Amino acid sequence: MTELSVEFRRSGVTGTWDGSFESILDLAESLDLVLAYSCRSGICTTCQCRKIAGEIQYNDDGVYQPEAPDEILICCSVPTSSLVLDI
Ligand code: FES
Repeated sequence: MTELSVEFRRSGVTGTWDGSFESILDLAESLDLVLAYSCRSGICTTCQCRKIAGEIQYNDDGVYQPEAPDEILICCSVPTSSLVLDI
């Protein structure tokens, strides 16, 4: 697959998405970012954050999805374009 960049802007860290992670949260943890989470399955919203640019898709269409289009749950989603996140 084409590699995508995922920028965690406030953390000053950018990673490469190559399809080998289950979620954006997994990628963040591989970069040693310590981010808030609890359920890791799209229920608690602890991992919700603001998307500055780019597109994602949820691993399971059935998970709760924040109403604001720029708010996403990173524990259960993957990028479909290069991303910039406000974390
Ligand atoms: S950690 Fe619970 S919704 Fe993401």
